[in-house]
Amino acid sequence: MCGIVGVTGNDNAVKILVEGLQKLEYRGYDSAGIYVNDQKGNDYLVKTKGRISQLREKITPDVHGSTGIGHTRWATHGVVSVDNAHPHFSNDDRFYLVHNGVIDNFQEIKAQYLSDVPFRSQTDTEVVVQLIDKFAVEDNLDAKSAFLKALSLLKGSYAFLLMDREQPDTLFVAKNKSPLLVGVADGFNVVCSDAMAMLRETHDFLEIMDGEVVTVTPNDVKIQDADGNPVERKTYHVDMNADETDKGTYPFYMLKEVDEQPNVMRKLAQTYLSEHGEPQIDDKLIKAMQAADRLYIIGAGTSYHAGLVGKRLFERLAHIPTEVHVSSEFAYEQPMLADKPFFIFLTQSGETADSREVLVNVNDAGYPSLTITNVQNSTLSREASYTLLLHAGPEIAVASTKAYTAQIALEAILAKALGEVNGQIVAQNFNIRQQLGLVATGMQAIVDEKAKIEDLANNYLMKSNRAFYIGRGIDHAVSLEAALKLKEISYVQAEGFASGELKHGTIALIEKDTPVIGFITQAKTAGLTRSNLQETMARGAKTMTIVREGLAIDGDTLVLPDVDEMLMPLLTVVPAQLLAYYTSLNKGLDVDKPRNLAKSVTVE
Ligand code: G6P
Repeated sequence: MCGIVGVTGNDNAVKILVEGLQKLEYRGYDSAGIYVNDQKGNDYLVKTKGRISQLREKITPDVHGSTGIGHTRWATHGVVSVDNAHPHFSNDDRFYLVHNGVIDNFQEIKAQYLSDVPFRSQTDTEVVVQLIDKFAVEDNLDAKSAFLKALSLLKGSYAFLLMDREQPDTLFVAKNKSPLLVGVADGFNVVCSDAMAMLRETHDFLEIMDGEVVTVTPNDVKIQDADGNPVERKTYHVDMNADETDKGTYPFYMLKEVDEQPNVMRKLAQTYLSEHGEPQIDDKLIKAMQAADRLYIIGAGTSYHAGLVGKRLFERLAHIPTEVHVSSEFAYEQPMLADKPFFIFLTQSGETADSREVLVNVNDAGYPSLTITNVQNSTLSREASYTLLLHAGPEIAVASTKAYTAQIALEAILAKALGEVNGQIVAQNFNIRQQLGLVATGMQAIVDEKAKIEDLANNYLMKSNRAFYIGRGIDHAVSLEAALKLKEISYVQAEGFASGELKHGTIALIEKDTPVIGFITQAKTAGLTRSNLQETMARGAKTMTIVREGLAIDGDTLVLPDVDEMLMPLLTVVPAQLLAYYTSLNKGLDVDKPRNLAKSVTVE
């Protein structure tokens, strides 16, 4: 989703901003822009629709400066156009502003304060920059005071980066709900909505809290809390290599990330298991979970799907009732809760606004919580009672792959830890270290079969604009993720379906050559799913089976290595990821940046 970068005190400001924006491309955007000022009376604004490469083309050699701000926009208010792209500026050209988030009351503000001001865009952001200018001019306020006065009127979510031509070396920063960080570099400072954007400049970042206002100059960062008091804060170190965010020799990040999954499994085992395979999880976290009478897993998109598998793991291994909820639903229609709930937030980015909304309510109610995330110091990680990191390395492709499998593997480790302290025999007998080893080897065997999977994608999915993935129980959970992968990047309308439910209505959609892909990994339901596949074949469907070796029969399409049934999702999802990848690739689509989607969705 929208991305923000800023820099002050470096003569290469243009390069730093554009490279920063390039690093944020993966989040999804449809237009981009920069504003730079050279402190000598020259300033430049360049905006474009489309990609950063188009922005680069528009940046002529004369564009230079030492302080500047930049933005990638994912349209919320107003169509995709140059006028609606950020930075936005006041009519007297004094203030320049970039913004992530949504101002809920911008129409009211416009009507009440700015009825005589002509607007050139349809955005909520332009309302804010015109408002700041109005207060500066009419009330004779300096930039910071005008900014504070405007902020006091706003409702909604925002990360703002403001520049004033009258103080051209200063970045004014404020946030509410949307992420924003200040980076402290050598002799200059930067601001960004995602540390990844500035890893080439620094690894040392300062968090900004909701309600604070920060002024950043080349040699100084001043934080002020909501009551105007100065705040001292130490930087934290982001332990990520800028090279980890490169795709190396891979044509797309998604393929690289699919291939990284065996290593991610090994890394999780190394991080969270002892040499003898005993889970190494913070005792306090385990005690807090033990005290609960029900677990609530909250997530969106792929993370929600990882929660559906997690539910089975917590119930089978730890014997604790577990519910899984879509965050955007739970936030506004909370179900009746158990007496002692414990919340688990699954979120790759740690920034998803829908999930954060639930966490805010959970914190208000005083319930304990855990965030399982891939991003150190992300908002949901900071705000939950406990955090476990996925250690999957940066996930850049919009379609989530290694974060899903990492989430499931970590849920399994946690469920095993909890089950053991709860004296559950199933947990005691579950050799997680050995199983994760088998999973890693199994994943490797599947990713080594790419050519075969590409053929299957060509034969089954290239010619159809619809597809069904079916399965029962845990296989059904994976079928939802498999269908989501295909939808996201190949635009084939796909559904994940409980195979027994298909005949109760949806089978009406099956016609000649409709692809139906069955997951068969659970002994108890294998025969039933096979029968359901037969029912679709009898109506012309073109069926494919993805089966665990122990349950395979002649004629199965893809036979996967055997691991414990509970962990089979870690293997079955891999061919589904690759089927989606090759369908998208062979349709000539942008695999990593599918239309309309954003990697980190920071608006509700
Ligand atoms: C976006 C992404 C999905 C992701 C979902 C939840 O919609 O495109 O891939 O699953 O957000 O993201 P999170 O970071 O909370 O896991």
